[in-house]
Order: sequence, then structure tokens, then C-alpha cells
Amino acid sequence: MSNTVLIGLQWGDEGKGKIIDVLTEKAEIVVRFQGGDNAGHTVEVGSDKFVLHLIPSGILHQGTLCVIGNGVVLNPHSLIKEMNGLKAKGIDCTGRLQISSRAHLLFQYHCLLDGLSESKLGEGKIGTTKRGIGPAYMDKVGRSGVRAVELCHPETLEKYFRLNSAKCNEILKAHGQPEMDVDAEWLKLREAAAELAPYVADTALGINRAIRENKRILFEGAQGTWLDVDFGTYPFVTSSNTTSGGACIGSGVAPSRIQKVVGVAKAYSTRVGSGPFPTELECAIGERLRKIGREFGATTGRPRRCGWFDAVATRYAVMLNGADALAITKMDVLDDFDTLNICTAYEIDGRRVTDMPSDPAEFARAKPVYEEMPGWKADTSRTSSWADLPPKAQAYLARLAELIESKIEIISVGPNRSQTFFVD
Ligand code: GDP
Ligand code: IMO
Ligand code: MG
Repeated sequence: MSNTVLIGLQWGDEGKGKIIDVLTEKAEIVVRFQGGDNAGHTVEVGSDKFVLHLIPSGILHQGTLCVIGNGVVLNPHSLIKEMNGLKAKGIDCTGRLQISSRAHLLFQYHCLLDGLSESKLGEGKIGTTKRGIGPAYMDKVGRSGVRAVELCHPETLEKYFRLNSAKCNEILKAHGQPEMDVDAEWLKLREAAAELAPYVADTALGINRAIRENKRILFEGAQGTWLDVDFGTYPFVTSSNTTSGGACIGSGVAPSRIQKVVGVAKAYSTRVGSGPFPTELECAIGERLRKIGREFGATTGRPRRCGWFDAVATRYAVMLNGADALAITKMDVLDDFDTLNICTAYEIDGRRVTDMPSDPAEFARAKPVYEEMPGWKADTSRTSSWADLPPKAQAYLARLAELIESKIEIISVGPNRSQTFFVD
């Protein structure tokens, strides 16, 4: 495997964690390059289930180095909780996890500001995970952020933490909200910093050295293309670049060092939080997809909105990411449907449109134009090759690939690591 970026082609939760876990077998280093603990990446191995939020899903393979890149916003307490959870299941991060010294830290005040901003937006809220992601990236680009290197310098960490906390408390006070107990938060942070400091490193240097030694690197995207801050359905997006280009900026690796982009898509669509979603099924079929697909957020537990596969949006996503290979997940969820719909165009203000509009207001008015395909009405969850799949399932997949102009390389037919196969 060459150096590969893996990203979500839809609105997140495509099953990226599971596919990363499978591809890690051929990688020496796995790097998270954006987002924070808003991500929830699920991997099921045997009867064990792991949900990773900040730590790359590659951690489940012994001998793989996992890197939290500079593009990530890192909540130290969440990371420690996650490391402890893994330890309880026999996975020790010592010596296997590195944190970029340039990654920005995410503190309690970012979470409080996220909550405040959402409550002020009322009906127009973004539906964030309330993990402080937007405020942390605002501090980063506003040049008032605090970076992971400060975990190694408690005096400066305290200085900046207190300064920013005071600003946050002024805002909370002005909005009649309870203020943060800065002393108590600092004591917790001081302890967390001491625990995490040994993991801080110049990871850009380390990854590039590894590339020179022909080690294989896997870049693990979080969220999905339509949550990208530039290309997503703004403002109903997250605050980072979730598309493949983000891997370079968020890890310090040049585009010339990356050979492959794998795009992950579900065989249907889901979205959590607010924002336009033309193929959403607010009816019994949507309920059925949610129930069979167990479509509840891995981070917040919120029910995911469900709908048919959107080939218009996904083709655009393939283009933006340069996804030359596809992993299609959750095929088994469609096993029992008589017919399936694929959205092949939108109708917007009486016009037929076959490209994703760049104006989100237009996208919000888009009505899906569907092509109907027969369901296969057979159990795919035990299949292990393309030839095993029912012919109607093959036809559905072949049509998806044709419409979105890419090539299927991986198929997932169940949540378990073992329920995955490659297509030759
Ligand atoms: P991620 O955020 O992209 O890593 O995806 P999540 O972990 O948030 O959500 C994907 C969910 O679908 C998880 O519960 C996975 O265990 C599950 N999953 C992944 N692939 C499959 C599949 O092929 N079939 C089924 N039934 N579940 C899957
Ligand atoms: P993974 O990596 C699905 C959504 C939130 C909200 C918007 C902004 O598991 O695919 P934020 O907290 O980032 O400011 O919220 O983005 N969102 C996700 N949706 N999967 C995710 O991550 C998400 N991370 C954020 O629901 O609509
Ligand atoms: Mg998820």
C-alpha cells in the first residue's frame, strides 16, 4: 500500500474507522489530521467494540504508530479518558502514540462557548456535538490558541489558559450564564498536561523521515466531505477541512508524498445535526434504515437522519477528494428492501441539475430525482467476495460506481472487521 488518505464522501459516519482498521494491516503509521473528539469511529473486532474519538483507529493493530497531527484540536481530558479506556481493554498507547507539538489544545471554555453559541442560534442551530470544535478552531485562526507544545511548559500553559478562561467568563457573564471555575479547571489541566507531555513530538519531522524510509502512512479523515468548512453545506459544517487536501496541511506532508485517496461511502446516506439533506426519508423507510443500520451517533447518541444514496453529491465529493478508490459500507443494511432508490439529479426551481450546487440555499431547495433499482432480498452479511454477492447487489454497486465515477475496491457487509472484502 502506498501512502493513502482515507476520507468520508458523505456527512460523516460512513464507517471510516472500520475501513482504517482493515487498511492498517498494510500501514506502519496512521495519522489523524483534522477534527477533534467530535469524531466517533467504531471498530468491531470479534465480540469487542471500540469507539475512537481522537486516537487513530490504527491503534488496534499492535506495532502501528498512531499520530495526532497538527490539524487536530485536542481536548487533553478526552484523550486521557480514551487512552484509559483502551488500556482497560489491553491496549497500551505508551510508545505507540504521538501528539504533534503544533496541534491546538481544546479546553473546557471552548465547550462552554460552543454550547452558548448553539443556544443563541435557537432554531437555526448547527446541531454541533458541543465538543468545542468551532471555538477551538476560531482561536487557532484568530491566533489566540494554545498549542500542544505548551503541555511541556506548565508555566506558559497556565498563563494562556487563565487569560483565555477570563475572556470566556466575561462572555458567559454577559449572557447570564454560570462562569467557569478557573482554578479547579487549571488543577485538572495541570495533571493532564503532565500525563500527556511525554507524547508530544515534532510529528511532521517524524512522518517525513518515515516516508523517506519507505514506511507506509495511512491518513485517517474524520467527519465527511459535506461537513468540510470550505466545500460543505455551509454554515451547517464542522470547522476543519475534512477533504483529502486537509491531510497535507494537517500533518505536514506534501501532496507529492501521497499516492492514493480512498473515499468511504455508505450504500445509503445519513446525516447528524442540522442542514440540507435532499434524499432524507422522513417516513417509515427512513425509520427502517435507522433501525437496521443502528444509525445513532457514536459520539452523542443522537438519531442519525437517514435517506437514499445521493449520487450527485457523492460524485462531486469524489471529484473534490480525487478519490480513485471507493469503500462502500453497510450493504447488509439494504438486504431486505424490495426496491432501492438512487438520486441521479436534483430538481431545483423547475430546472434539472446534475452537479451539486455551490449555493447551499439552492441545495436546500433541491428535490431528488430518483432511479429505482430492485433490491436483492438476500443476506449479504456472510459474503466474502464480489462473486458471492447476489447479482442484484452487484448491479446496485456497479451502478453506484458508474454514477459517481470511481472504482469500488472495498466492500463492507457488517460492522465486524471480518465482514469486509476487497474487489479485484
Ligand atoms: P465513522 O465515523 O465513519 O468511523 O463511522 P461510525 O463508526 O460513526 O458509524 C458507522 C457505524 O456503522 C458503526 O456503528 C459501525 O460499527 C457500523 N458499520 C460499519 N460498517 C458496517 C457495515 O458494513 N454494516 C453494518 N451493518 N454496520 C457497519
Ligand atoms: P465522524 O468522524 C457525523 C457534525 C455535527 C454537526 C456539525 C458540526 O464520526 O464521521 P461540530 O461539533 O463538528 O462543530 O459539529 O458536524 N459532525 C459529525 N457528523 N460524524 C462526525 O464525525 C461528525 N463530527 C461532527 O453533527 O452537524
Ligand atoms: Mg462517526
